[in-house]
Amino acid sequence: NPNIALLKGSYLFPEINLRKKQYLAEHPEASLISLGIGDTTEPIPPSIAQSLADFSLGLGTLDGYSGYGQEQGKHVLREKIAAKIYSHSVQPDEVYVSDGAKCDLGRLQTLFGNDISIAVQDPAYPVYSEGSLIQGVKEIISMPCYPENQFFPDLGSVPRTDLIYFCSPNNPTGAVATKAQLEKLVRFAEANRSIIIFDSAYANYIQDPTIPKSIYEIDGAKKVAIEVGSFSKLAGFTGVRLGWTVIPDELKYDDGTSVKADWHRLTSTIFNGASNIAQAGGCAVLDEKGLKEISSLTQFYLENARIIKETLEGLGHVVFGGVNAPYLWLRFKGQNSWDIFQQFLDKFQIITTPGSGFGRAGDEYIRLTAFGHRKDILEAAARLKKHTNDH
Ligand code: MLT
Repeated sequence: NPNIALLKGSYLFPEINLRKKQYLAEHPEASLISLGIGDTTEPIPPSIAQSLADFSLGLGTLDGYSGYGQEQGKHVLREKIAAKIYSHSVQPDEVYVSDGAKCDLGRLQTLFGNDISIAVQDPAYPVYSEGSLIQGVKEIISMPCYPENQFFPDLGSVPRTDLIYFCSPNNPTGAVATKAQLEKLVRFAEANRSIIIFDSAYANYIQDPTIPKSIYEIDGAKKVAIEVGSFSKLAGFTGVRLGWTVIPDELKYDDGTSVKADWHRLTSTIFNGASNIAQAGGCAVLDEKGLKEISSLTQFYLENARIIKETLEGLGHVVFGGVNAPYLWLRFKGQNSWDIFQQFLDKFQIITTPGSGFGRAGDEYIRLTAFGHRKDILEAAARLKKHTNDH
């Protein structure tokens, strides 16, 4: 596939790892704190871990063994997602269980192929544009998002595209779109006959009841939007791997045919469903007990975000995000984000993510994640306070 040669040397996070290794080779005594990749750090809560273990052990018995499942996922899990995540506003057979949001984004890109135009927020999760480049998509429109436009694209100046990728709570800026903003987005997609791919991987961090957790809270969205969700940041499943995609029955192509029917055909051809162990875990996440447990986990990471945000603000920084979102976005006017990354490494021995890895509009920024052990977050805060004014 010659399109792969169009991609930058390596994906963002392996590049950061490489820099980390280089630093450690030169400073073997260094004790680095990673606030870089957004990877969960806290144990999977007990009732959920137990269900993963029970199901796994069951596989070793005649009664508990199961082989291939439905490609779309276990019906009971699809029902629970429709009920607990969407309060029944979507139907179980509009939910497709997967091995994670990133993998589903890749399959959605296969679904739409290369003869399309797309719009992506800038900065954005790299998979939207890089996965599209791999498909051979030529027309990629960037929608700059910065403090001056409240991190919401100026839709008046965005040309029509077939797909619009949108992520809220946003990775990397931590910005959370209001209901009014999402209404604008849905009206824009309707007017342009575009399909929104709404990435809601961080929806559980929304604590403000006025902010939509799903695009389907907006009237008319089922006709124009696909939503991709994840258990990764919801239940610490970044390693277990489990996510879902909602494709509403109402979503049609211009010729009136069903997008869901094509998705069904595609996933049953190139995907064999999420692991049955992960799906058993997903069911436990959405049980009453599991929901309570994961809510504490969400609060834990939000408290981390608050600690980092307050520390940085106390040091005079302007910090975006970190409220209703697990990412913090820090601006350093006029500086290059890899230089800022290096400064944080040298001065504080803290790994961050350079904003330019998420697009050109990220160039004066770094991203900090709130995923971390509390002792590391407190140590990071202490280092920031201690060394900020060192020369
Ligand atoms: C991130 O750090 O942006 C995320 O962890 C990436 C991902 O979820 O794949």
